[in-house]
Amino acid sequence: MKTKETGSDPKFATKTSSQESPALNELFKDSISDLYWAENHLVKALPKMISAATAPELKNAIESHLEETKGHVSRLEQIFELLGEKAIAKKCDAMEGLTKEAEGIVEETEPGTATRDVGIILASQKVEHYEIASYGGLYQLATTLGLTDIADLLEQTLAEEKLADGKLTDIAENEINYKAADEA
Ligand SMILES: [Fe+2]
Ligand SMILES: [Fe+2]
Repeated sequence: MKTKETGSDPKFATKTSSQESPALNELFKDSISDLYWAENHLVKALPKMISAATAPELKNAIESHLEETKGHVSRLEQIFELLGEKAIAKKCDAMEGLTKEAEGIVEETEPGTATRDVGIILASQKVEHYEIASYGGLYQLATTLGLTDIADLLEQTLAEEKLADGKLTDIAENEINYKAADEA
């Protein structure tokens, strides 16, 4: 058995211990902190999109994804716990930029229009794709590092992000894009 320098025993089975690949484990932890900032930021940003949207199905879709997003924050907190780390958020410039872009679209479009809804969908799908890329990559990395329990949690959120993205595509394809195309 190895002697640990600091901390308590990890609660997961590792194939690759943090002593064996400290730089990669550090990168993994940093990326989780980045996502933690991003998800917390979304919990604050999504209500603005809900009130800016008009179509009830779009409002509902963002509302239910807001509830899921709160769950994503809790899952990341569980991950920090499994890593034996404090939950620390590290500013995610990408997510800040994506939400700024979404707010810009709202400012530049007329309230109550399907055109604004289309803009909200476009911006929201960029957010979902960023999350899908992040969770997909970190799921793979957790698997490589032998962090099975953490990989499971990341996979659960990844599935919800993919469903949210698909729902937005359906809303755009089935109704809102046509409505917007008819607008002056
Ligand atoms: Fe999320
Ligand atoms: Fe999401």
